Amino acid sequence: MAAALIVLAAGQGSRMKSERPKVLHEVAGAPLLRHALLSGAALEPVRTVVVVGHGGEAVETALRGFDEDAVVAVQTEQRGTAHAVAQARGALEGFDGDAFVLYGDTPFIEGETLQRMAEARAAGADVVVLGFEAADPMRYGRLVTDGDRLERIVEFKDATEAERAIRLCNSGVMACDAATMFSLIAEVGDDNASGEFYLTDLPALAAKRGLSARVVVCDESETLGVNTRMDLAAAEAAFQRRARAAAMENGATLVDPATVHFAFDTHLGRDVVVEPHVVFGPGVTVESGATIRAFSHLEGAHVSEACVVGPYARLRPGTELDRGAKVGNFVEVKAAQVDEGAKINHLSYVGDAHVGAHANVGAGTITCNYDGVGKHRTTIGAHAFIGSNTMLVAPVAVGDEAMTGSGSVVTRDVPDGALALSRARQENKDGMARRLMAKLRAAKEAR
Ligand code: UD1
Ligand code: CA
Repeated sequence: MAAALIVLAAGQGSRMKSERPKVLHEVAGAPLLRHALLSGAALEPVRTVVVVGHGGEAVETALRGFDEDAVVAVQTEQRGTAHAVAQARGALEGFDGDAFVLYGDTPFIEGETLQRMAEARAAGADVVVLGFEAADPMRYGRLVTDGDRLERIVEFKDATEAERAIRLCNSGVMACDAATMFSLIAEVGDDNASGEFYLTDLPALAAKRGLSARVVVCDESETLGVNTRMDLAAAEAAFQRRARAAAMENGATLVDPATVHFAFDTHLGRDVVVEPHVVFGPGVTVESGATIRAFSHLEGAHVSEACVVGPYARLRPGTELDRGAKVGNFVEVKAAQVDEGAKINHLSYVGDAHVGAHANVGAGTITCNYDGVGKHRTTIGAHAFIGSNTMLVAPVAVGDEAMTGSGSVVTRDVPDGALALSRARQENKDGMARRLMAKLRAAKEAR
């Protein structure tokens, strides 16, 4: 059965007290909305509709950064969850299959949970609602069941005391044949405590037509929604706990797990060792057997087998370290390919560059890649030796097995095997230091 996602993201999220739309607040380096779409990806949806309202343009711009195919539907006035879903109707014109409603502010629904909902649909349930046993049901909608059957959902505000005692709650996720969903929504009214069009009316409306509704239950942790900054921090903490556990289950060593911070897409291979206080931004893969030493910050980087990074290293987007490369303390690397066995061990900036195999980049080397307007490339050949404190003024190339003298400012290409020296020749003036000091002291005493 083909699946479509309808992701509700029109709410203002006023309790965030933010200029930014709620669904664009980030957990593990990705907007909440992206997490919701990643959950939904398990269904291999053929269409995705994101319903936007407050901050709609900002949401659409951000969405384009990670999903080119999703369609945006605008809900100009927030009149309730059923009204929000109805806005997706046009975008799903001609779609034949199941619609899954997700919330853009609920980042942790497991793909496997959505698959169980799809299975319940395949097994004959017309409407499938994702429920959970709430430790503290608070203001969630309550699921009124009769055995396996879901009779109806009652919102907290409209519930009787007896109904409020029910602990099986509505997560908000719902699945139904799309055409059926829209035709049921057409019957939803706003005669309730909030004066809104509730999506939660669907199970009861379905029952009236002789259609069936069922509950699929998931763990409460999956349904965590973000409404406040405190919720956002709790979501981040929950994500990090799971990511650390998953990394260790997959065979990585985290020396002090609580101090390692993962992004939503960090990938660590087997026998990777991560020392304390390491931050992974988005887009990092570390291959088997590599070591990331303490206090390093990595983002958009690929670290191959047996590399050693840090302590105190910074890998920025576009860093590619081949097998066994070393990047040491206080080294920043950006948009650079570092070939097998090359070493950049101390106090350097290497950006927009290619460092050849087994090259040695000395302490304090800088690729001067930016002239104030444009960026330029530096190429360092295989087995080259870059002397300490070399300024490589890009665009510039240093050949294979070439050397640069310490303190050189290299502005012209260096041929293979050549030594480039570009600094003033040293002069020694005998006795000059002593004479100078005597003169300075005498001048001080005369004052
Ligand atoms: C909703 C459910 C409730 C469930 C709870 C789970 C209804 C009527 N109630 O309540 O049963 O237990 O979620 O968190 O569905 N949204 C729009 N447009 C709107 C209204 C909402 O896009 O017009 C979006 C919001 O941005 C949010 C989501 O839909 O992401 C849920 O809306 P919200 O107002 O938070 O619903 P709850 O009152 O929490
Ligand atoms: Ca809510």
